[in-house]
Amino acid sequence: MPRLAVDFGTSNTAAALMAGNRPWPVPLEPGEATLPTALFFDSHTGAVLFGRRAVAALIEGREGRFLRALKSVLGTPLLREQRMIGGARTTLLEVVARFLTHVRTGAEAQVRMPLTAVLSGRPVIFRSRDEAENAQAARDLEEAYRMAGFTDIAFMAEPEAAALASGGAARDFGLVVDIGGGTSDFTVFRGTGEAIEIVASQGLKLGGTDFDRALNIDRVMPLLGLGSQLRREFGPGTTEAPRALFNDLATWERIPFQYTPENRRAVAQMARLAEQPSLWARLADVLELELAHDIAHAVEGAKIAANTGAGAAIGLTMVERGLTVPLTSRDLGRVLGGFAEDIAAAAVETVSQAGLPPQALTRIVMVGGSSLLGPVEDAVRARLPGAVLDRSDPFTAIVDGLAIAAARMDAA
Ligand SMILES: Nc1ncnc2c1ncn2[C@@H]1O[C@H](COP(=O)(O)OP(=O)(O)OP(=O)(O)O)[C@@H](O)[C@H]1O
Ligand SMILES: [Mg+2]
Repeated sequence: MPRLAVDFGTSNTAAALMAGNRPWPVPLEPGEATLPTALFFDSHTGAVLFGRRAVAALIEGREGRFLRALKSVLGTPLLREQRMIGGARTTLLEVVARFLTHVRTGAEAQVRMPLTAVLSGRPVIFRSRDEAENAQAARDLEEAYRMAGFTDIAFMAEPEAAALASGGAARDFGLVVDIGGGTSDFTVFRGTGEAIEIVASQGLKLGGTDFDRALNIDRVMPLLGLGSQLRREFGPGTTEAPRALFNDLATWERIPFQYTPENRRAVAQMARLAEQPSLWARLADVLELELAHDIAHAVEGAKIAANTGAGAAIGLTMVERGLTVPLTSRDLGRVLGGFAEDIAAAAVETVSQAGLPPQALTRIVMVGGSSLLGPVEDAVRARLPGAVLDRSDPFTAIVDGLAIAAARMDAA
């Protein structure tokens, strides 16, 4: 029985096995090498949908609970809190396990044999540089795999897998820069002729979901009341509306937990004090109709479209007929430029941690969906101008490397 390679990503998940001596991406959806890390619990039928079908159910406006970016909850207390999801009390840990069960059974159906051994990717850093928190997140992920029916579970750092997939000529130094949905990971490696040697790795809790949040807060949330003034309940003058709810509504993994009676009451209360009540009426609709995930998808789509250089728009017609917000590549630079600098600084730091001068790098292997963002690529190139940029498939390089490593574990 071969060991299955799984890249459980914040935004996208992939599984792979070796076919002969090449990685073979297991199509978890027909014709697709990746599966969006998303679930939809349909309120009417009780069905649980995964991946693109879950996203489609959300966009169609079917009634139910949509969940995405669950990897970001690993290592936090929220993972084990009991919640009503799909008409039953459950925890997000059980939801993650359910997703991984779907990955296992989907792969088993493709190869017609049981697959209970897994080599999973893991970010270098799940949440922060706090060791205890990272260790907890790693244990949480292992527990989810166990609950999903895997009995032999091993992990490998995601950028190290990408390094393995990219290979290396003898004696050349490469740097993997993997910018995903939740984390940014870096590995300096060296080709040794037939294998590669990992020299240094590090990570940042920063990725495309953070970019989505920042763009959402900059472009959309002000239309729902963020930054607007409320009259003081007692005494003269006004005060700025509290920001916490807007932040949560723009944060993928926190959205499902904002549609509470308490939040609805608080918004109704603030609407009465608002200088611009029409903004708060929109916010009340977003809570009532549970539209925050639709907004997040619109922001993400516009981010990707604006990144091509052409102007894009965040379509908000689900909130209000005709409502759209333009988003340009200049907006991306303005809002995300600071993040791109943080990423580039971490890339440079990984090189110096490896004990190398920047000129020693011959190539930079950029992978992960968010590495496609212009400001990120520009910032990394500007700091490491000597190296050649080598682009592998941004969405499958990691699982390919995991498949190679899994086969070596099988052979050993
Ligand atoms: N063309 C594009 N331009 C910019 N960003 C993109 C593009 N395509 C996808 N993305 C972003 O890439 C992110 C997903 O990338 P990826 O699938 O590599 O992440 P992941 O592996 O699921 O996450 P992680 O590794 O952090 O857990 C999303 O935030 C998505 O919006
Ligand atoms: Mg990834």
